[in-house]
Amino acid sequence: MKLFVDSGNIKDIETLAAIGIVDGVTTNPSLLAKEPGEFKANLKRICDIVRGPVSGEVVSTDFAGMIREGHDIAAIDEHMIVKVPLTRDGIRACKAMSSDGIRVNVTLVFSAAQALLAAKAGATFVSPFVGRLDDVATNGMDLIREIVGIYDNYEFTTEVLVASCRHPIHVVEAARLGADIATCPPAVIDALFNHPLTNIGLEKFLKDWEKAHAATKA
Ligand code: E4P
Repeated sequence: MKLFVDSGNIKDIETLAAIGIVDGVTTNPSLLAKEPGEFKANLKRICDIVRGPVSGEVVSTDFAGMIREGHDIAAIDEHMIVKVPLTRDGIRACKAMSSDGIRVNVTLVFSAAQALLAAKAGATFVSPFVGRLDDVATNGMDLIREIVGIYDNYEFTTEVLVASCRHPIHVVEAARLGADIATCPPAVIDALFNHPLTNIGLEKFLKDWEKAHAATKA
């Protein structure tokens, strides 16, 4: 399973990419609005860092505006993916841009019916938001199971990009269900590393080594 960073913060992306486990980046207007600098220059910098798929979202809500913005976003770098919302205009724009060879990520997906439309429109990625479903007392991971099953039935090539991941269990469940990608805020990726037994074990190994080393020296 691929791991994307869900952030527009260049420093955070650089730090995680340096570890070697980052396959791509997702951004959205809320994330980019938090960062200083011009958003297209920031997206270009992110592409140069990760050299993998980087999603940048349109803010137009009409078909013509989405197409115009989508072409601008795609022109930033060969790694750019155009993100469109799951609306009628968004699906129409997805179909048009995908047919032109522009890769599209259909976002704000909250049902299997919506995911089916994204696949039929030729989306490269579909982004179901698991955390936001959990927030309204609906199991987000059930939706991932449904989408993966439906896509498998028809061999759709659209990749299931699990979005709105809030904790490591979302990531592990995404992997268990066979989702293609989980996109996570930097804090969730950090949390994937942590286990108290790793820290305790490492501390003991180093202490034992130090003790033996001190005895040899004495
Ligand atoms: C995905 O592409 C979105 O940017 C993101 O995962 C939304 O997450 P949130 O629900 O934590 O804002």
